[in-house]
Amino acid sequence: MDPISVKRMLLWFCIIASTHGKQCGQVDDNYRFDCHPELDASQQKCEARGCCWAPGKSPARDHAVGVEFDVPYCYYPLDYPGYVNGVPTPTEYGFTVNLTRTTKSYHPKDVMNLKMDVLYETDSRLHIKIYDADRRRFEVPIQTPPFTSKAGNPTYDVQLAPTSGFTVTRKTSKEVVFNTTINPGFIFCDQFIQISSSLSSSYIYGLGEHRSSLALPIDWRRFTFWARDQSPSPNINLYGVHPLYYNLEPNGDTHGVFLLNSNAMDAILQPAPAITYRTIGGILDFYIFLGHDPIDVVKQYQDVVGKPFMPPLWALGFHLCRWGYNSVNGTMAVVERMREASIPQDVQWNDIDYMEGEKDFTLNPTTYKNLTKLVADLHASGLHYVPIFYPAISSSQSPGSYPPYDTGVTDNIFTKADDGSIFIGKVWPGDAAYPDWFHPNATRWWQTLARKFHNAVDFDGMWLDMNEPSNFVDGRLQGGCLNNNTYDNPPYVPGVGGNSLYSKTLCPSARQHAGLHYDVHSLYGLSEVRISYTTLTNIRKKRPFIISRSTFPSSGRYAGHWLGDNVSEWPEMHASIIGILNFNMFGMPMVGADICGFGGNTTEELCTRWMQLGAFYPFSRNHNSLGMVDQDPAVFSKASQDSSRDALLNRYSIIPFLYTWFQMGNANGSMMARPLFFDFPYEPALYDIDTQFMLGEELLVSPVLTEGATTVNATFPPGRWYSNGATITGEPPMTFTKTTSVVLDAPLNKINLHFRGGFVVPTMIPQQTTTKMVENPLMILLVCLDVDGTAKGHMYWDDGESIGSFENGHYTWWSFSAKNNEMMSTIDHDGFEGSSKMSFFGFLVEGVSTKPTQVTANGQTCQFEYFQTSQILDITCPKMPFNKPMTLKWS
Ligand code: NOJ
Repeated sequence: MDPISVKRMLLWFCIIASTHGKQCGQVDDNYRFDCHPELDASQQKCEARGCCWAPGKSPARDHAVGVEFDVPYCYYPLDYPGYVNGVPTPTEYGFTVNLTRTTKSYHPKDVMNLKMDVLYETDSRLHIKIYDADRRRFEVPIQTPPFTSKAGNPTYDVQLAPTSGFTVTRKTSKEVVFNTTINPGFIFCDQFIQISSSLSSSYIYGLGEHRSSLALPIDWRRFTFWARDQSPSPNINLYGVHPLYYNLEPNGDTHGVFLLNSNAMDAILQPAPAITYRTIGGILDFYIFLGHDPIDVVKQYQDVVGKPFMPPLWALGFHLCRWGYNSVNGTMAVVERMREASIPQDVQWNDIDYMEGEKDFTLNPTTYKNLTKLVADLHASGLHYVPIFYPAISSSQSPGSYPPYDTGVTDNIFTKADDGSIFIGKVWPGDAAYPDWFHPNATRWWQTLARKFHNAVDFDGMWLDMNEPSNFVDGRLQGGCLNNNTYDNPPYVPGVGGNSLYSKTLCPSARQHAGLHYDVHSLYGLSEVRISYTTLTNIRKKRPFIISRSTFPSSGRYAGHWLGDNVSEWPEMHASIIGILNFNMFGMPMVGADICGFGGNTTEELCTRWMQLGAFYPFSRNHNSLGMVDQDPAVFSKASQDSSRDALLNRYSIIPFLYTWFQMGNANGSMMARPLFFDFPYEPALYDIDTQFMLGEELLVSPVLTEGATTVNATFPPGRWYSNGATITGEPPMTFTKTTSVVLDAPLNKINLHFRGGFVVPTMIPQQTTTKMVENPLMILLVCLDVDGTAKGHMYWDDGESIGSFENGHYTWWSFSAKNNEMMSTIDHDGFEGSSKMSFFGFLVEGVSTKPTQVTANGQTCQFEYFQTSQILDITCPKMPFNKPMTLKWS
């Protein structure tokens, strides 16, 4: 019997032994489910709810102010009256069952009759919807996949409990992956829905967007979901909402659970281990993914919410930004400084200082009047340009003087207050109205403005900020929110920052086309990126590039994300790794943190280390706040510049490999940045590692994250690992049969990168921009042999910017495979015309144990140098096209 079942049995034993009227008994602390999460718990209030009151066995950390972060004193008795399962009726896709409550709960407006649809969507994807049997409720308007037939051979089994609740079991291992019978306090009221489930182990990941460790703490921790303009800090809701978790099972299998719900919500993790969701609207719309490894679960999740967008190639280069260049000249001076220092840069950004009076679609007439020319100059040097936009539109300009507001009024696209007037809050330009991106006229309105602005400033991408949406006042500028309103002040308020739903945002009673802001608030960023994606596509007729601050499941189809307003402090680098890994789990691989930190002043050492780490963020952008000391990599000493240049050149050289992973993500949901255990789920020693990360299956990044350190305590998963960089000078490969810790040298000019044996990594000679790289692409294949002398790999390439290159077949796809002292490159598809311009520049074969006497490529003799200690064979062959089959032999 698994440990959870044993505990439950003991628990029942205690209950039977109990002499109380209610079945309170001596419930194990870890199995208490909180019946009074509000801060003013007392015995009287608790018992009035029909619940049990008893101090927990563990010392209460903060009992006086409630039960969050600790064992609840007020908990459900096991005989708490709830919904009774009806008799299931088979349906085309599974079954449906009525759930009926006869006794009301303590919350207002119980939905007494529920329906639960169980849909066997695929063999490893189960969909369970619990909703009001009699009345339609709000459901999240995102496109989920249609399915046409019931899964033929599901890997899961769904069992209804004899009275109430249900379990989902993985058939192969008999592991219970979801079990709602664990908490009798299943409540479904109009504005309070609560359901719990056991977890398979205490290793649970995801539940964003939050600041936390990678493996989430289960010490009664509360994760609140409600998009908020909140600089990242622990235990508070941040910019985006991703109610999805990954849970390891005792045997190393992994499943995922996604609750598609956009209302304000809490999820509490407790040591049972168990999770409790408390949402204040919508329905319970669960997807359960029986992956079996975590990478599969990520794919299955993206089958539901959509695959991430394919970025243009230039977006994989280095981006530079700051708030407060203060002028075109200030901006250009930095670009020139970068160029002089020969530090690669692909994209220059501008923040709100380019605007006049910080109003969208305007240019500061003195300091930024030459922006058109700046952008033209950037383009002429092969760079790209991304300016900031935010949603709030100034509403206080004189009529006829500011078209974004005037046309917004005419097109009726602004969000309305509950009295039907335009909702006015306050953002950078002062009084401001909020576009309702769900309004049918919103696309036309936004596109017209963006097109006109684009005619003046030929921007390439869009930076969408403040779209939680952020408001500098709570609710309406005049009058705040209504106090007597059940949406602005619902009976239960999840643990949102500011303690009210309208803190720093709109009133939940505001009205949008898709419904009450109460329901669609956390979809604001998603609805904006959807429209901006269409807009940018239509204007540029090229692949769009959008970075958004607020995100929701399926945002990854349209945009990437940066992790918001971090600070220039050492621990923030560590936090950035966790953030990046989380967003990769959420189907948003194009993610990065502000390199060198946004708020506060950086130091040269911090920024040098951060540039090394940030060079390997999927989205690599250095961004800085107003008034802080400069932190672009060219501003520092020569030693620091050399280090940043090296790190970025390293990144640029692996761009073919990164681009291939982005494409595979776009095509089939393959994950880009991964926690170490994702490729090694049977290695418990890796479950907590969040100071290093993998890019794809091949590259392990082990950065320095602490001040003054010149070594890194790195953890290596089993297998063979080759150090990148120092190899030729003599570092031998490392081979491990189990997870192993190694102290790596990390002088200030070095980031530790290790390639995994068994893979061929395509690389390209780096240049200052990706534009320059693709003029004359020179390829080097890095052949990292496994212990058995084999390796494999792939590469995707296209023109870097056309829409639908893959779908239209305008791409080239290579396969590489090595064994028996031979490596073959084959072309599986050659639909990208430019592939004929690409040529082999050389090969590095790693893991060659004896010096060969001869090396040939397609029968022609090649030059080579062999390094015994590092076991590297460095090969240069006569010029060969890259898009033709090739066989390399060494003997
Ligand atoms: C807030 C954003 O998070 C930050 O990146 C930006 O610089 C400021 N807004 C100013 O636009």
